[in-house]
Amino acid sequence: MASLTVLGLETSCDETAAAVVRGAVPGPGEILSNVVFSQIAEHAPFGGVVPEIAARAHVETIDVVVAEALAEAGCRLSDIDVIAATAGPGLIGGVMVGLSTAKALALAAHKPLVAVNHLKAHALTARLTAGLPYPFLLLLISGGHCQLLGVEASDRFHLYGTTIDDAAGEAFDKTAKLLGLPYPGGPRLEQLARSGNPQRYRLPRPMLGRPGADFSFSGLKTAVRQIVREGDFSSGDEADLAAAFQAAVIASLCDRTRQAMARFRDDFALEGPAILVAAGGVAANGAIRAALAQLCTEDNFRLEVPPARLCTDNGAMIAWAGLEEASSGRWDDLTVPPRARWPLAQGAT
Ligand code: KG4
Ligand code: ZN
Repeated sequence: MASLTVLGLETSCDETAAAVVRGAVPGPGEILSNVVFSQIAEHAPFGGVVPEIAARAHVETIDVVVAEALAEAGCRLSDIDVIAATAGPGLIGGVMVGLSTAKALALAAHKPLVAVNHLKAHALTARLTAGLPYPFLLLLISGGHCQLLGVEASDRFHLYGTTIDDAAGEAFDKTAKLLGLPYPGGPRLEQLARSGNPQRYRLPRPMLGRPGADFSFSGLKTAVRQIVREGDFSSGDEADLAAAFQAAVIASLCDRTRQAMARFRDDFALEGPAILVAAGGVAANGAIRAALAQLCTEDNFRLEVPPARLCTDNGAMIAWAGLEEASSGRWDDLTVPPRARWPLAQGAT
């Protein structure tokens, strides 16, 4: 397959990002630049992402971020083969900014446009970094999504499990807030948990042992809230509660993943070694990675987790997904709409 050079734009949440990636399927690809402008400072006073502020910040920064990504890659727009942008799912105001910018660039430079599904981009990142073959089992754990999917091809996903309430990242962020940690909570909670005793508090292990591979995290968050408000908890106990929360999330993630592993092996008649990919912002968590590695050793899976900076939102993953789409002959015309919701598989959210 011929090599393509792709510019990827990401604006679906609170990072304004652009990157240039060069390569061919199945990967690995070469990341020529990967510029991420985080809006954390703008949202921090509100304790979470404010969609209006996010959209405005994307408008203000996207041009500079694109120019930087091209400059760092040593490319002009004319050197780019394909322009890719997140078209959903995500905060619609932000998605509109990135997609409109990509449309304008594609129109001005006479380049093909690919409207990328953000979840698919997380899913395919391990092909960019490691050149993985299909099929693989995917644990997608981000701020808005928590799913287990069998990935058969870049356009074929089988849903094994999804969350029935909160996403894993959402649970991390809400629990972090309860513990008084500043936004964004996930990484800070992980840091705090390192010095805590996970045995001190007893927390529920949501969905453990249930058939299927669905997730649920809202009960866990409620249990933490009860301890903070009415339980044996005072200042100085945050690390122990953070450690207990993280241990409960890990137990639940591993139990659900094990169920999906069995279904995945069945579906694809795989007897030997198989592949598990963990993707999305929560996959940046070191304790979760270590637990998944252990699970994979036990069940004859090979674990593939992209480096942390490619697990959280970035433009390189969008560029790579665009590269995969274009390589399969899938482009979009300039009328392609932004989408707030865009499930990867039937039944998924
Ligand atoms: O994939 P992502 O950057 O954005 C979405 O598409 O949602 O994921 C962001 C989520 C946030 O909820 C954040 O708190 C969580 O990923 N996250 C973490 C860690 N790093 C990011 N959660 C737990 N531990 C981490 N180290
Ligand atoms: Zn994401």
